[in-house]
Amino acid sequence: MTSNSFDDGARLAEQVAAATGAGTGDRLLHARGAWATGEFTPSSGAPALSRAAVFAAPATPAVARFSSTLGGADGHDGSPGDHGLAVRLGDLDLVMFTLPVFFVRNGPDMVEFLRAANSADPATAVPAFAARHPEAAAALELAGQARPAAAFTGLAYHSVHAFGLADAAGTVTWARLGWRPHRPTGPLTEEEALSRPPGYLAQGLAAELPARLDLVAHLPAPGDEVHDPTRPWSSDREVPLGTLTLTGTRPPAAEPDFDPLHLPDGVAAPLDRLAADRSRVYAAARRRRG
Ligand code: HEM
Repeated sequence: MTSNSFDDGARLAEQVAAATGAGTGDRLLHARGAWATGEFTPSSGAPALSRAAVFAAPATPAVARFSSTLGGADGHDGSPGDHGLAVRLGDLDLVMFTLPVFFVRNGPDMVEFLRAANSADPATAVPAFAARHPEAAAALELAGQARPAAAFTGLAYHSVHAFGLADAAGTVTWARLGWRPHRPTGPLTEEEALSRPPGYLAQGLAAELPARLDLVAHLPAPGDEVHDPTRPWSSDREVPLGTLTLTGTRPPAAEPDFDPLHLPDGVAAPLDRLAADRSRVYAAARRRRG
């Protein structure tokens, strides 16, 4: 890491903190969450797509953190917003959330979006942001349709970035990765969700276990914008890569410092700028909260 990228990450983290008003010691986003542990078992076809050890080993221990993106540590899980799932499988971190595309293409634009969303008058500021950033249209529309979730393990999660799955011969297949729940849960009404305790998703996790989610590689169709995380793809072709089985909720003795660029041989980094900016800001946010 160069000193420039270090400074850049720290500056972005300070700007995110100022925009969200996160409390000291809390994550700057996704502050509310719950840990789960279990293991990942690859599907039989996964090694043909990627030579990564996680797809060759019979099973890899998994540490996962489900989270609610907005509202800080004191927010309500039933408030509108998306949810996150960060999973560490050996040398592979998968840090995903519930929208299939993202609002922006880089860190500074994310800060601008967070300032608008957290302003005193978001009803004016977010449309003004959208007018300046037409690339945010797809994610904003989907976010506007989001309904309160019933259960963390019943949701689908998306990487938004395309990762390069490299096979033993070096052939690279670009794919968005995703988790697909074995037991999908429908949304709650806002009234029902807000009548539950503020941390109902985190508190309900233990009762959902054991729970399984499949890891899939979502492949683009010709003409899809492979390396633009703001653009939906027209293809719905998904190849199974394996299954995550979560069985426990004990927090890890040492929390993984999740990094979307913590990748093994056999999984190449996204080519978009968003992933690089995220990696720097997560490292700085982690240092900041101690
Ligand atoms: C430039 C865009 C982004 C910025 C600036 C950003 C910023 C952050 C920050 C500051 C945190 C808290 C880190 C900490 O305090 O340890 C965080 C957590 C998180 N972000 Fe992002 N984020 C961005 C994009 C995304 C995207 C595209 C996704 C999903 C595809 C995502 C998913 C998550 C998740 C799941 C967590 C919680 C990780 C955990 O449980 O520890 N973020 N993000």
